[in-house]
This record gives sequence, structure tokens and C-alpha cells, in this order.
Amino acid sequence: MENSIYGTHRPELERDMAWLEKEVGKIRGELKNTLGMDPIEHILARIKTEESMREKCRRNGLPETPESALVTIHDAIGLRIVCAFVDDIYAIRNRIRALPDVTVVLEKDYIRHAKPNGYRSYHMILQLSDGHYAEIQLRTISMDTWAALEHHMKYKQDTGPQTGLIIHELKRCADELASTDLSMQTIRDMIQDANAEQTDPISDQKNRS
Ligand code: GTP
Ligand code: MG
Repeated sequence: MENSIYGTHRPELERDMAWLEKEVGKIRGELKNTLGMDPIEHILARIKTEESMREKCRRNGLPETPESALVTIHDAIGLRIVCAFVDDIYAIRNRIRALPDVTVVLEKDYIRHAKPNGYRSYHMILQLSDGHYAEIQLRTISMDTWAALEHHMKYKQDTGPQTGLIIHELKRCADELASTDLSMQTIRDMIQDANAEQTDPISDQKNRS
């Protein structure tokens, strides 16, 4: 593409993204073995489009240059990891922190500290070995559904006098979903405890006698 905002760096970004996806794939496999279930529902990986990178530069008062897109702005590469359970988010977070050749430059825990509008997710900004940055967002299915709806709402200009109510209802919904996520986690823990007891030889013997 002529005059890309990424200059000549796009192939590097593609390689970095593929590398990150592969590393997250390994983490997924390892956790799958220890948990006995897949910790990840789905993963979305993307290079920010030219247009939305240019829009972000303008929004932040930055010149539309590769320097802005790759050095000042840190989400040219984005990975969204959607999990069924909250605990899996933190398990993956821990393993991402331990990745070789990766420096975690920023973490924002919008799960423990939700945004005032109700937005929840765990965000990490990584710097990779070639100096490029990547943003990782970790969230549950509920958080992902909510964010999609809220994002859609943000770009609807025509909600008029209902806007306040919609914002209020969205916040209420986010809090209800968070509470359900916790309940789902508790149920998963109970199932895993029950399974562990069944395969535990001591309780096996007790059951037989
Ligand atoms: P930008 O929002 O990208 O300019 O970066 P920031 O420095 O404000 O970082 P932040 O961690 O707040 O947001 C990064 C990304 O998280 C956004 O680009 C969105 O994808 C997502 N995000 C953050 N806040 C919200 C929110 O309130 N609603 C939704 N739907 N997504 C959000
Ligand atoms: Mg933001």
C-alpha cells in the first residue's frame, strides 16, 4: 500500500502478531492439560486498520506518521482473548508475564477496577523483542458481549432523551454480568473439587468401604 501509516513495518507487525498467537496457543495447550478444559473460548487478532490508526492519531493530536503509529501508540497489534471463566484470565495473564523476550510495559485491571461505565477487561501492553508493541485484552464471554453492545451504543447518535437511561441500564447490566461470572466460577470450582475427590484414592477407598 502506498504511504502506509506503518511505513515499511507492516510485515514485522504481521510476524509479531503470528508469534504472539503461537505463544498464546502454547499457553492454551498447557492450561488445557492442567485444567482438563480449554481455558479460551476464542481469540481475535488484528493489526489496526490504516483508517482507525489514522483516526486515533488525529484524536490524540498526533501527526499521522509511522513514529506515532508504532512508538507513541501501542495497540497497532491487538489480541483479544475471550475466556469462559474469570480465573482463567489471571492464569493466562501470569503466563503472558513469563513469556520470553516480552516486556510488560503496562497492565490495567479493569476487572477488579471496572470503568465507571461498567467496562471490564484485563489489558496488557507488551513490548516485543523487535521493539514493537502489542495490546492484549483478556475478558470473559459476558464482558465481551457487554463491550460489543456498549461500543455499538457509543456510535449511535440518535438515542436522544433515552441516552441517560441507556447508560444507566448498561452499567446495571455490566454489574449483573460480573456477578454471574463470579457464580459461574464458583460452580466450576465446585465441579473441579468434586472431580478431584472422585479420582482421589483415599476418598475412593472410603467410598468402597
Ligand atoms: P484507546 O481507548 O485505545 O485510545 O486507549 P486508552 O489509552 O484509553 O486505553 P484503554 O485501556 O482505556 O482502552 C483500550 C481499548 O480497550 C479500547 O481501544 C477498547 O478496545 C477497549 N475499551 C476501553 N474502554 C472501553 C469502554 O468503555 N467500552 C468498550 N466497549 N471498550 C473499551
Ligand atoms: Mg480508551
